[in-house]
Amino acid sequence: MYCAVSVKNLSVLLNLQPDMDFKRYLITAALPYANGPVHIGHLAGCYLPADIYARYQRAQKRDVKFVCGSDEHGVPITIRAMKEGITPQDVVDKYNAIIADSFAQMGISFDIYSRTSSALHRETSQAFFKKLYDDGVFETRESEQYFDEEKQTFLADRYIVGTCPVCSNDNAYGDQCEKCGSSLSPEQLINPRSALSSGPLVKRTTTHWYFPLDKYEPFLKEWIVEGKKDQWKPNVYGQCKSWIDSGLQPRAMTRDSNWGVPVPVPGADGKVLYVWFDAPIGYISATRELTAQWSDYWCKEDTKLVHFIGKDNIVFHCIIFPSMLKAHGGYVLPDNVPANEFLNIEGQKVSTSRNWAVWVDEYVKDFPDQQDMLRYVLCANAPESKDNDFTWKDFQDRINNELVSVFGNFVNRAFVLMHKLCNGCVPALHTDVMDAADHALIADIKAAKQDVENCLESYKFRDGLYAVVDLARKANKYMQDKEPWIVAKQLAADPEKQKLIDNCLHLCLQLTANLAILVNPFLPFTAKKMCHMMKVVDRMLDWENAGSTDLLKVNYPLRAPELLFRKVEDAEVAAQVEKLHNNLKNAAKAMEQTTQQPEQAAAESAAPQYLPAKPEITIDDFAKIDLRVATILHAEKVEKADKLLKLELDLGYEKRTVLSGIAMHYKPEDIIGKQVTVVANLAPRKMRGIESHGMILMAQNMDGSLIFVAPPVAADNGGEVR
Ligand code: 2FM
Ligand code: ZN
Repeated sequence: MYCAVSVKNLSVLLNLQPDMDFKRYLITAALPYANGPVHIGHLAGCYLPADIYARYQRAQKRDVKFVCGSDEHGVPITIRAMKEGITPQDVVDKYNAIIADSFAQMGISFDIYSRTSSALHRETSQAFFKKLYDDGVFETRESEQYFDEEKQTFLADRYIVGTCPVCSNDNAYGDQCEKCGSSLSPEQLINPRSALSSGPLVKRTTTHWYFPLDKYEPFLKEWIVEGKKDQWKPNVYGQCKSWIDSGLQPRAMTRDSNWGVPVPVPGADGKVLYVWFDAPIGYISATRELTAQWSDYWCKEDTKLVHFIGKDNIVFHCIIFPSMLKAHGGYVLPDNVPANEFLNIEGQKVSTSRNWAVWVDEYVKDFPDQQDMLRYVLCANAPESKDNDFTWKDFQDRINNELVSVFGNFVNRAFVLMHKLCNGCVPALHTDVMDAADHALIADIKAAKQDVENCLESYKFRDGLYAVVDLARKANKYMQDKEPWIVAKQLAADPEKQKLIDNCLHLCLQLTANLAILVNPFLPFTAKKMCHMMKVVDRMLDWENAGSTDLLKVNYPLRAPELLFRKVEDAEVAAQVEKLHNNLKNAAKAMEQTTQQPEQAAAESAAPQYLPAKPEITIDDFAKIDLRVATILHAEKVEKADKLLKLELDLGYEKRTVLSGIAMHYKPEDIIGKQVTVVANLAPRKMRGIESHGMILMAQNMDGSLIFVAPPVAADNGGEVR
């Protein structure tokens, strides 16, 4: 039984890196922007898996450093400060404290939670930049950029608004029109104006330092495309490959701003490091702040560096930062970047501007001392391979039906019965009367250890947690089949039967000790409570102890059981759902009173409301639109345009090039051969130097996702859609 490794686990084993070669584990979790509190999507996407992994590696007695901190630079922070009439430092001080407290409350066990506004970080990131500069890595380029004369600031694309050239929306942003979905550049806006002031918008020439990412293509091809294929998660590998295949461009690593790390080279007054240049270096400065041996963790080849992030950070951690490290030289590269997808809430995308989110600081107030309930649900439902949905009903079901009924119930019964039938002490194991069920349970304990271990080593946290609960499920069945409470009634007639009761409870208690070890990385508060009940020290939770059925000494008196978990009541679910909807209404009211906060819109793309109806048209107006069926022959990303795909279409009577703003929704390789509907007589238009002739029809869901409007079965290319 122990040797019967399942096929799934075998493949997991084959994909494992030989971890015995690594002497150190450097685990990073994305530095959150200090411009708002953290929500449960942040936890599920990045911090919880990182914490589980760090706790597991520590239990393995490996040399672990788990680093994080606040990302305190970047445009959204300066804009928020401007709007609120406070300094950027005030903004980051406020949110750094809230975020750090939320993580601590949730048991996220960073070895350090640092800040990128620290002096050490400034020094570290400047030295990094200076080394690349001295080595001649950067190239400088001049460009014309919009400048707000009233605010005396250059404007990022998102802070320029104007009329959309496609749909005439007066409030389109410089990077996208949220009404028609078109991907735009500020130059395409009609009557561009600043989102920050009513002052004049002018163009000014500015110089920036560009990192030549294109020169690192051969390195990235070898290191990722060839080297990480079977090692990295498919969602991460796929995104990287698609970026690399589309061709990489030099990227500006400096910005015009007075908030950030000053660029430490001549002629760079008023310029700071681009936030995505300095933020990942924040991992290095945090490690420096933590330990004088920091360079062992960053520079020795036998360090395993793992970056935990959300999917929106993949390109920065897999492509840009590794290329920076490579250019600098002397640093290890990430062994893995196990990025998660997004967690939606009650069927809708998280939106901070619409206040559609479950905030961690509020959860810990509403559910005091119930951090593990949230940790459990967020791990059991983690968006590991696709976006997932969090609902309060599912939260209740998982807690009540899995944690309470399976795990908590088993541990409680084992303790209650031990007190009732075995004088409150660990009973002996009488090998002479052991049966097949006893042996099978022992094998289950050993197999569970291996199973959980394999899952954690390969970043399959959901499966790992499932394997723990599954062991509790098997234990419940074992106890139910053994019925020690019934056997107890036969003792008067046959005192020898006490041996059967002893065996059952001995094994159930040893299994409970194993559950504490296995669940510890996932639910550390629960493991601690279990240790208290068993009167064992934390050292028992060392991973090497898992699999043993000799953890609790015979005749050792144990404490009375504590309730590990409580049920979630219907009223609590209703209250949380109501809170979400109230928050949404209040945010909408507040939004009506002010204009939309651009910094919030920048940080997310809020799920759209129903768009207002357009003015009536006549049948003749409609008849002017020539809609045709076409097939996508070829698709590729457009350089320097994150949202655009260039499509080659077969319209039957001719072939066409059409640019479509769907790159965030579809990978080029996934849509080749798909049929679509095209507005075929739309006047051609140039975008990013490419002429686009026509427009693809897309249906937009309430969560902002787009799907093709296409014939349900194969239709003739060029056929009219009426
Ligand atoms: O997306 C974000 O929230 C960024 N602040 C993550 C930065 S991660 C790292 F590079 F610092
Ligand atoms: Zn538009």
